[in-house]
Amino acid sequence: MMPTMPHLETIAVHAGMDGLTEAGMHVPGIDLSTTNPLTGVESGGDSYENLATGGTLVPGESAVYQRLWQPGVARFETALSALERAEGTVAFATGMAALAAVLIATVAAGKPHVVALRPIYGGTDHVLATGLLGTSVTWVDAAGVGAAIRADTGLVILETPANPTLELTDIRAVADAAGDVPLLVDNTFATPVLQRPLESGATLVLHSATKFLGGHGDAMGGTVSGPADWVVRLRQVRALTGGILHPFGAYLLHRGLRTLPVRVLAQQATAAEIAGRLVGHPALARVYYPGLPGQDPQGLLNRQSTGAGSIIALDLADGFDAAVRFTEACRLITHAVSLGGVDSLVQHPASLTHRPVEAGARPAAAVVRLSIGLEHVDDLMADILAALDVAGDVAFDRAVRIPHEAVV
Ligand SMILES: Cc1ncc(COP(=O)(O)O)c(C=O)c1O
Repeated sequence: MMPTMPHLETIAVHAGMDGLTEAGMHVPGIDLSTTNPLTGVESGGDSYENLATGGTLVPGESAVYQRLWQPGVARFETALSALERAEGTVAFATGMAALAAVLIATVAAGKPHVVALRPIYGGTDHVLATGLLGTSVTWVDAAGVGAAIRADTGLVILETPANPTLELTDIRAVADAAGDVPLLVDNTFATPVLQRPLESGATLVLHSATKFLGGHGDAMGGTVSGPADWVVRLRQVRALTGGILHPFGAYLLHRGLRTLPVRVLAQQATAAEIAGRLVGHPALARVYYPGLPGQDPQGLLNRQSTGAGSIIALDLADGFDAAVRFTEACRLITHAVSLGGVDSLVQHPASLTHRPVEAGARPAAAVVRLSIGLEHVDDLMADILAALDVAGDVAFDRAVRIPHEAVV
């Protein structure tokens, strides 16, 4: 039995584990059943109707079909709700499936206009800009939210720290400006270890669970946490559109939550040190990291979060070509999309994650994004400094430098 108000680390380890001891188990099993035996024709039908309209499984009743209810997914949702201090969570196959469910619910409520703050993850930008799901969008900065709200505005969306250049947005101020319009905050970069947007006035919190929550680059998932009425609507959307998380993914993501506080804080400590050591490097025009002096003018790190996280963006002084040379010269740090895992990654947002973003809003071509993992800080610094040497050497011949040895 957990104490009434345990600390975050304790919640992370124990939440969503109820009933295991009674069942003689230490960790949850992975139930791969796609269908579940029914207790009777009438009771089976009742259970179907309950689950397909967003209800929760009635104890003793059949879960009917995995698209409607999955016990491992429910355990993961319970755990994340405890960490985000939310009434509930709905878990999806990916972060984009989670966002799509919110947009579908928004359109279905008859308010298809979305007010969104840039910069934001390129996929989010893309789905909003195309209007693929029947939404229209007005792009604003934090100061423009109030004026952009219309009678048919059903959602305000922001991400803080924002992808890829780590701009911070005052969640409370935007929530106030949004008034009755629900505010969704993408909390993928900060995680509930550093920031709990619901406590700052957000209505919904979204995660690409693929990132820090899982933490090992081996499971995709997405979540939306929020109030009970939204949870019911989103579960219904999920049941009818089929975006539920797979049981094995749910197991891995739930396991990932158990080490989330330790990983996030250790990765952050390394990132802060690297960011600090890189300031002033001659190959860099700028280091983007909210924990550096002058990069949090509103003092948000102490108010709405407790740390700057472990994503760093670098602006290469010699422009796009230098950014390409840097990215391709990293060896210990893998050139790959995604972030938040135990191993460090580097990518070029303008070419990749933010490629679909319209030209004026796309990240600068000279910017690269680093996700700092759990490797030793000195090994990461050695890799980064070697890659910066390559980036600064405009005459460098690619044929000569590939392949070269990893730094470990
Ligand atoms: C901040 C952020 N939000 C949402 C997503 C989308 O999540 P997924 O890739 O799990 O669909 C991503 C993916 O990179 C992301 O970085």
